[in-house]
Amino acid sequence: MTPTSIRRAIFAVTVLMGTSAAANAQALPAWAYPVAAPAPARTAAPAAPSSAPRQAAGSSQSYTSTQIKDLFNVPDWFPEDHPKMADPVGHGRPPAVYACGYCHLPNGLGRPENQSIAGLPKEYILQQVKDFASGARHSAEPKMPSCANMILISKAVTPEEMAVSADYFSKLKLTKWIRVVETDTVPKTHITGGMLVTEESGTEPIGSRVVEVSENLEQTELRNSHSGFIAYAPTGSLKAGEALVKTGGDGKTMACGMCHGQDLKGMGNIPGIAGRSPSQMARALIDFRTGARNGSQGMMMKMPVAKLTDDDVVAITAYLGSLEP
Ligand code: HEC
Ligand code: HEC
Repeated sequence: MTPTSIRRAIFAVTVLMGTSAAANAQALPAWAYPVAAPAPARTAAPAAPSSAPRQAAGSSQSYTSTQIKDLFNVPDWFPEDHPKMADPVGHGRPPAVYACGYCHLPNGLGRPENQSIAGLPKEYILQQVKDFASGARHSAEPKMPSCANMILISKAVTPEEMAVSADYFSKLKLTKWIRVVETDTVPKTHITGGMLVTEESGTEPIGSRVVEVSENLEQTELRNSHSGFIAYAPTGSLKAGEALVKTGGDGKTMACGMCHGQDLKGMGNIPGIAGRSPSQMARALIDFRTGARNGSQGMMMKMPVAKLTDDDVVAITAYLGSLEP
């Protein structure tokens, strides 16, 4: 090869890599990976932190807005819901180990931007955090803000902190927290902090998406762990999802119950998938498909996701989300 042809070859490879990266980025459905455009430069001074006490509906506790945003001191609206939080769960350790309960909530139910971890097998929890730390697990969309934090935490947390946290979350019970509603039209939404948020007015066709939003945005912003989410799904998706989940859809995928348990509530160290958030599960399926999620147990998910289209992911996750956890 002459220097020119080598340069041309390098150029061609770079262009190819560029397009495939762009194609991959484009291929990720925005409903499952809601990443906001960068915020415009701030012109006004940020609002002063409020010291007025706030209350979440149904709770007898009160916290100020500053306390509600404290990543090392989790607002615990319903302490009667759960055993005493282990220290890493309620407080974490500055600077890098944010309190687990801040994002996953003290009851482990999580929010659409992260994951529910209540009732997951202890060994599974430990392994996932190791996978984040080793790089075997990340998001197909590196800009998902909360996932980047989970990766930083996984690298900073000690084995002792993980042992008590995994013990705490594995003993909690996953409860119903998402209501799946089939529909043709949905409220208009925009993206805030890795989640979809409904506009004040206006509707649009749902298309092939699951649109997961707060039942009550104000309560979600207070991190009220009793105020759950609605997942709108296209009409007919539950039936289509049920067929794929139960039969594997004529070789398109595998019957999920083979590994996740007949009731889909988990088996051995394999996590439950019934009644969890559709957008979280969609990211998991797509991350397995792209290879972004490639931990030691991830091999087992390669076959089930290999031939799934994004429409199948909509149907499967809507159906799984509609089940009793
Ligand atoms: C800043 C928010 C945040 C904090 C704090 C946080 N996590 Fe996470 N966690 C996430 C996100 C986001 C994900 C999902 C990442 C992805 O998309 O793969 C996640 C995923 C997980 C998972 C995988 C769950 C599954 O079903 O596979 C486990 C286990 C977990 N976190 C444990 C912890 C523990 C233990 C702590 C405290 C030491 C913690 N997390 C603190 C945001 C957080
Ligand atoms: C051959 C066994 C097997 C089959 C069949 C299987 N799974 Fe899995 N699945 C696993 C294992 C093992 C994991 C955990 C992988 C890991 O450690 O990252 C998993 C993880 C998952 C997760 C991520 C859960 C979480 O907490 O992040 C989802 C979602 C999932 N599977 C959905 C499905 C669906 C939907 C089907 C059927 C279409 C299915 N699986 C079929 C073995 C299987």
